[in-house]
Amino acid sequence: MKLKGSFKAPGDKSISHRIALFSLLGKGRMQVNNFSPCADCASSLKAVNLLGGEAHIFGDMLSVEGALGEIKDSRVDCGNSGTTMRLLMGLLAGRPGEFCLDGDESLRKRPMQRVADPLRQMGAELICEKGNAPVFIKGKELKACDHTLSVASAQLKSALLLAGLQARGVTTVREPAQSRDHTERLLTQCKAACNGKNGTWQVAQSELDLPERYWVPGDISSAAFLITAALINPDSRVMAEDVLLNPTRIGFLKVLLRMGADLKIEQQGNHPEPWGRVTAGYTPKLEACEIMAEEIPLMVDEVPILALAASQARGVTIFRQVGELRIKESDRISAICSQLSALGVDIRVKDDDLLVTGPAKLKPVAELDSFGDHRIAMTLAIACALAENQANIKKMESAAISYPGFQDALNGLMA
Ligand code: S3P
Repeated sequence: MKLKGSFKAPGDKSISHRIALFSLLGKGRMQVNNFSPCADCASSLKAVNLLGGEAHIFGDMLSVEGALGEIKDSRVDCGNSGTTMRLLMGLLAGRPGEFCLDGDESLRKRPMQRVADPLRQMGAELICEKGNAPVFIKGKELKACDHTLSVASAQLKSALLLAGLQARGVTTVREPAQSRDHTERLLTQCKAACNGKNGTWQVAQSELDLPERYWVPGDISSAAFLITAALINPDSRVMAEDVLLNPTRIGFLKVLLRMGADLKIEQQGNHPEPWGRVTAGYTPKLEACEIMAEEIPLMVDEVPILALAASQARGVTIFRQVGELRIKESDRISAICSQLSALGVDIRVKDDDLLVTGPAKLKPVAELDSFGDHRIAMTLAIACALAENQANIKKMESAAISYPGFQDALNGLMA
């Protein structure tokens, strides 16, 4: 199956969430171009409006009004979105009022204790029975903390920084390994007192000054599926245009380069974040490699699609310490192992490492299961395109959680 041409992925999901949610702590009116149309960001927009903010979407343009001080007691349905829930936990912990954050079946299984515990140290009042949603919050006056994160998680780090913006004193958050830094960048762009380097971040009490205009670069995590598809399908060459190139998000591109991929990364701008073009061409001789534990947070959402790339590489690719993937929208380790095995890939788990041996010739199957997880669904769709196999992928519609136009974009490149 040959893929040719250029495409633009929708606006970055992580950045879009933050823009919408931060308006609750900001003042001013903001016009945002290329806001993500995905279902997860729709959950954040719904939350903002319920909580007293004002966010209106017109196509991919978002108009948002700062709602500082206007937060209303609410019960918020965060849908499938861990980012919405975890960032709101930090954001609401210091606002006067009573709130309940709930979500779908998948979100109700995901760990919230890791966010609730450090927030409680700051004086927050949160109840999440057995560490899961629904999360009940009673806003309190917060005091600053100095906290070392138990895991390298951008959602956890962001929750604490957002609470720190409302706390007395200077809050310090230390990361065990670097994770995506969109919160820190956006807080600085909103003129908050936020500084840091080498994985240590500090915030002090601040109101956010929303920039008048903001453009969201394309989502590199969505583009990853089509970039990888081009690398493993003969005669393919695709270009991802206007895509986010933030160094904390392109770990998977660096790994693919190590595997010998025909990839070109051209940075074309640095504002509001590094962005540019990625060109990917079919690479018949991908080589296996080892991916170290500290690299995983920089490519945490791309492990499923990279596992598929590894299945086409010569040798054993080892992903070290991927346990965090078990608590994403699904148990992604178990999902990717069962589904790629069904397709004939030699893939196994040893301790917390994932081992993929290639190259594998994928075999046709009648049905695959995404387990309702968007990133698994899209990985399986690319695997089926490679195998020229029309398998039924259960809950394929979950792709819309991050990439509503995925199937059309794939079809467009295959035409
Ligand atoms: C995200 C952080 C990551 C990632 C998720 C989005 C964010 O989660 O998997 O898709 O926008 O902060 P963790 O912080 O749990 O690693």
